[in-house]
Amino acid sequence: MSAEKNDRLSFDDFDEANYPRRETTDFERITDRVLSRRRFLGGSAKLGAAAFLLGTTSLLNREGHAASSLDFPPVAANSLDTITVPDGFDWHVVTLWGDPLWSHSKPFDPVTRGTAASQLLAVGDNTDGMSLFEIDGRTVLVANNEYVNLDIIYGNRASKGPETADDVRKAMAAHGITISEIRKDGGKWRIVRDSPYNRRLTASSPMEITGPARGHALMKTEADSAGTRALGTLNNCGNGRTPWGTYLTCEENFNGYFSSSDEAYAPSPSMTRYGVGNKDWGYGWARVEPRFDISKHPNEPNRFGYIVEIDPEDPTSTPKKRTALGRFKHENAELVVAKNGEVVVYLGDDERGEFLYRFVSAGKYVEGGNNRDLLEEGTLFVAKFSDDSSGRWIPLTPATTGMSEAEIAIRTREAASAVGATTMDRPEWVAVNPHRAEAYLTLTNNKNRGIDKTNAGGDPMPLNGPNPRAENNYGHIVRWRPAGEDHAAETFTWDIYVLAGNPALHEGANAGSVNITADNMFNSPDGLAFDASGNLWIQTDGNYSDSGDFKGMGNNQMLLGDPATGEIKRFLVGPKESEVTGITWSPDRRTLFVGIQHPGEKGNSHFPDGGTSVPRSAVIAINRKDGGLIG
Ligand code: FEO
Ligand code: CA
Ligand code: CA
Repeated sequence: MSAEKNDRLSFDDFDEANYPRRETTDFERITDRVLSRRRFLGGSAKLGAAAFLLGTTSLLNREGHAASSLDFPPVAANSLDTITVPDGFDWHVVTLWGDPLWSHSKPFDPVTRGTAASQLLAVGDNTDGMSLFEIDGRTVLVANNEYVNLDIIYGNRASKGPETADDVRKAMAAHGITISEIRKDGGKWRIVRDSPYNRRLTASSPMEITGPARGHALMKTEADSAGTRALGTLNNCGNGRTPWGTYLTCEENFNGYFSSSDEAYAPSPSMTRYGVGNKDWGYGWARVEPRFDISKHPNEPNRFGYIVEIDPEDPTSTPKKRTALGRFKHENAELVVAKNGEVVVYLGDDERGEFLYRFVSAGKYVEGGNNRDLLEEGTLFVAKFSDDSSGRWIPLTPATTGMSEAEIAIRTREAASAVGATTMDRPEWVAVNPHRAEAYLTLTNNKNRGIDKTNAGGDPMPLNGPNPRAENNYGHIVRWRPAGEDHAAETFTWDIYVLAGNPALHEGANAGSVNITADNMFNSPDGLAFDASGNLWIQTDGNYSDSGDFKGMGNNQMLLGDPATGEIKRFLVGPKESEVTGITWSPDRRTLFVGIQHPGEKGNSHFPDGGTSVPRSAVIAINRKDGGLIG
């Protein structure tokens, strides 16, 4: 999801305009200043964030950098309308928005940009998180389709918005997930049309509601009086995968699809906490499907904002909304099996001042056993960071929150606020190092940090250890190591892996950490993944103006980080006005697949075909020219 959308407001700014965030009171302000200062001084004596900013940490330094296990000449920043990869590497397009999945699908029509019927049989728009599965010797790509850009999908309309019911249904069909078999043919990966595994899931596909919220009164609607079956999955951002062969898709900014036909309707506090209000983002879905009208169907938004588990091996299976993993603006779902077999899933809630979560399953993973419903039951925890580099996971239970298990699953943000979780600078993806017990989290940016603003629930956002920079416009990456190298442990220690910045323009905090230079600078880290060799891949979704504070950073990009030394090298630059998001590898590790989302979101890209063509989101494949490993 883009930091900026067209000349419209960003998604966070849209929500804030609807529900202005409270200024903190004078009393809170004074208290916070005193506490922040104490914390700063206290932290600087240890290896806390404050010490890090002063450059005294021993975890990162300019000396003793080990060479990255993937050797390549770094790419310079640029503002070109194409993909740039290092010398020695090649790229090609695998799938584009609108590509046919079956032989009876219509080819993409650049004049109309498709219809509801054609879109249902084609690759969805704005690709995001993705995974590859090997099923019966075939390669199956499962990729999220997060949202649509109105100016692009409705570029055939004078209003640049939906004008007919079919227009609305076209956008609903462009959302969701695209499952397609792909095959390497003549050196290039292509969609296998008519594969039995090809499938589209959209904003209308039936989904089963599982876990604590199943059947609860807050989940019941006119169309589903049992509260057990929802229609559709929305705003599918990052992803996850399980060791039992299923795909996890993450519903993020679901609020933007709801509106009210009654202008005087007063959304409940539980709606406003999630930004659900009387105005949508211009999609107009409620005009065609009344379930998106909150004055008529106030429980419908409670059925979105979950992790959804999909079985790509069975194209007839019904996806399962896993409410035990909480309801918020889910970014990705990074799953790791703890030492004792419990399944741990790290989860970020991407909004200013929201929280980092962890789910721990009640059951245990058994290799080759029946693990299918491990995400059905367990405990959700929220992170509380201390400024002395320690932290702990607070369980969200009836005892700690005063809410029922179903309420915790549905009104998760309120539960986390009730236990005093640490407000974060927009938690995006979490990635777990495959070679040591540590996890990394992108905190993309938060212009409201440290300026006496609150999150949507009224929790203040003073400077704190893991979010140490006021008006954090560049973002950073925090990492933690669980106690006893056990991801199910209650406590952890943390530090900051990188603080993005612009050392060519600034000194101090806005120059970034010592591992940021004029040659590798970037802003707004978002997508994040480790490869099998233990390299950390960082994708950005930020300001691509290449001007002002962002001068020298160029387009959004992908970089490679060495977790041991902190060294960061730029590997790829995306086309104009795109975001680089979504990453996975072929089983032989010789192809790296990367997602290119919303090229030309402001009208200035013709990626990938050039000329005057309609820009289209894409999954691309990257190979080494010598055929070697890439990750
Ligand atoms: Fe869809 Fe937070 O990015
Ligand atoms: Ca993202
Ligand atoms: Ca983002």
